[in-house]
Amino acid sequence: TPPLNSLDVYTEEETMLREAVQRFATDVVGPKVREMDENEQMDPAIIKGLFEQGLMGIETSAEHGGAESSFTSAIIVIEELAKIDPSVSVLCDVHNTLVNTIFRKYGTKEQQDKWLPQLAESKLGSFCLSEPASGSDAFALQTRAKKDGDSWIINGSKMWITNSYEAEIFLIFANIDPSKGYKGITCFVATKDMGIQIAKKEQKLGIRASSTCTLNFDDLKIPAENIIGGEGKGYKIAIEILNEGRIGIAAQMLGLAQGAFNKAVPYTYSRSQFGQPVGTFQGMAFQIAQAAVEIESARLLTYNAARRKEEGKSFTKEAAMAKYWSSVVAQRVSGQAIEWAGGVGFTRETGIEKFWRDSKIGAIYEGTSNIQLQTIAKFIQKEYS
Ligand code: CAA
Ligand code: FAD
Repeated sequence: TPPLNSLDVYTEEETMLREAVQRFATDVVGPKVREMDENEQMDPAIIKGLFEQGLMGIETSAEHGGAESSFTSAIIVIEELAKIDPSVSVLCDVHNTLVNTIFRKYGTKEQQDKWLPQLAESKLGSFCLSEPASGSDAFALQTRAKKDGDSWIINGSKMWITNSYEAEIFLIFANIDPSKGYKGITCFVATKDMGIQIAKKEQKLGIRASSTCTLNFDDLKIPAENIIGGEGKGYKIAIEILNEGRIGIAAQMLGLAQGAFNKAVPYTYSRSQFGQPVGTFQGMAFQIAQAAVEIESARLLTYNAARRKEEGKSFTKEAAMAKYWSSVVAQRVSGQAIEWAGGVGFTRETGIEKFWRDSKIGAIYEGTSNIQLQTIAKFIQKEYS
């Protein structure tokens, strides 16, 4: 068995969690990975299993039915799931680091009492910010909300929404006063039965078991008490949560790189050509060593950002660096892993090519690589001028 990793900064509880998630991922998720990828469908039994394992309320308080664990624990869970299936990993990531965190950080006591237990026990959440005309320029969103007595009426459309095919709870960002620009953006919580329509389910290159849909809101009526964090506070909520969420995507990409490495490297020692294991030719061995260094660098960036966040230190630049770099490493290592396994790596049977297909998304969602570089560059400019 390859070592878990060489970064030895985890508490006993975090190590036990990592081992438990590894077992769940290997035994429960593992056998379904290929079928789910080919069918482009998440198995409902896996979502149920994540809830039963207590992995859908990782930081949520025990009072609200959660595991009351650390942010680093959430990162560990995301990493471990991604080693086996990055689709299951992102489902768990969005639900925990985006949806649960918004309620924990910005919800009133009543909102937390109402929503957090459902999210920890059985109902999947999604985070609805992007739209057809606003991706990187997220604050230019066109979805509008108008007050109507004790309710808000939402009209508009969201695109690319992870988990939305299976979700029951939706956090929707809509502008209540476009004359204020992005300072009109407000965060609402809605449930599926209020009338959210799925307009399209995407067919994708990678993370195919993770659902990604366009949603239409046609006079969607939401009670006034379903505003989270106050009127006009939505843009700050969205970006503050994304700053944290990006550490989650860094962990997903880190796990993915390690997962591809774990599959391909043992093969190179079992496959012989010219009378010796192919992994022992210097041309191969050095590539493998270099990939191990790259994975380790992604791990250090990711867990450094996680610990800084946990300790209340500034972490936005570090999170952007971790997401940017882990996405680069995930693409490089998973691409090389295919080559290390030769023709076998190119077939669907080994699952190595799937990691490579899945790796592309790291440079796109939760802020593209250019958006991460822009964030890092802004910090550098501030620090040096
Ligand atoms: N942290 C905190 N605040 C930030 C910030 C950051 N990283 N970036 C910008 N802000 C604040 C600014 O301080 C400013 O607020 P004030 O006026 O109160 O000071 C406000 O945001 C606007 O700032 P800018 O004019 O500089 O920002 P912009 O409009 O040019 O772009 C942005 C801001 C939309 C956040 C952009 O930088 C960005 O991150 N785009 C990517 C959007 C994104 O990540 N979407 C992800 C969707 S969810 C998802 O993808 C989930 C999934 O797949 C799994
Ligand atoms: P665009 O913003 O149009 O970018 C196109 C290209 O232009 C990119 O290369 C980008 O880097 C570049 N670019 C744009 N602006 C700049 C700039 N200022 N400087 C330099 N280069 C720039 N969104 C949600 O709200 N919730 C979700 O759950 C969610 N899940 C997703 C799942 C998947 C599978 C996908 C594909 C997307 C998901 N998204 C989600 C949306 C995702 O966050 C956006 O796709 C992403 O932010 C990029 O927006 P865009 O696709 O509109 O690309």
